[in-house]
Amino acid sequence: MRLDKLLSNMGYGTRREIKLLMKKGGVQVNAEPVKDAAQHVDPVKDEVTILGERVVYKEFIYLMMNKPQGVLSATEDKRDQTVIDLLDAEKDIFELFPVGRLDKDTEGFLLLTNDGKLAHNLLSPKKGVPKTYYAHIEGIVTEEDTERFLEGVILDDGYETKPGKLRILKSADVSEIELTITEGKFHQVKRMFEAVDKKVVYLKRLSMGPLALDESLSLGSYRELTEEELQLLMQLSEK
Ligand code: URA
Repeated sequence: MRLDKLLSNMGYGTRREIKLLMKKGGVQVNAEPVKDAAQHVDPVKDEVTILGERVVYKEFIYLMMNKPQGVLSATEDKRDQTVIDLLDAEKDIFELFPVGRLDKDTEGFLLLTNDGKLAHNLLSPKKGVPKTYYAHIEGIVTEEDTERFLEGVILDDGYETKPGKLRILKSADVSEIELTITEGKFHQVKRMFEAVDKKVVYLKRLSMGPLALDESLSLGSYRELTEEELQLLMQLSEK
């Protein structure tokens, strides 16, 4: 990767500012001053310093996003905006992708990373990582639905779901619920409600495993996981 790109991506200034600094001898690669901004470096193997300070390149990053409606959980799309389009350009070098999918009209917790192993582990059906959703449901949700979800319901393709924990927050013409499931079948929450003749009209993911949506994130914004959150995630991934 070009040295000026690496340093600007890591927040050390604009490419122009970095070029100037390099001209003044402020950037060294493997203890040698480098003046050519276009020089390529291996961000993992080469030791880069800026004004004597070691540039620590992170191989992996982990972001929590509050996904808005109308945006695809994909890395690119010809027509629609994707969650990757919502990231600052400085994140480009990391080649992030979403861990699992939320429907275009679903909001809430979405993890983005470039750590393929962690993503694979979290999505593995064997792990059964719980995911909790908040939803508005057209129709009166009853205790009978809670019991049916606990037993597992049959989806439109004949698949019998694992038990889901349904909490009724408000039972009315438009009910409010929380549902925890340990699988990630296509449109699973919507199809589970269809199986009991009801319709999801609003869906938001609240949590995934030990991580809960940071409600201070406005729709479409994101932040890096804290050290503590990351450790919880690693523990779960390695279990
Ligand atoms: N279940 C759904 O139906 N949609 C989602 O986006 C996530 C879970």
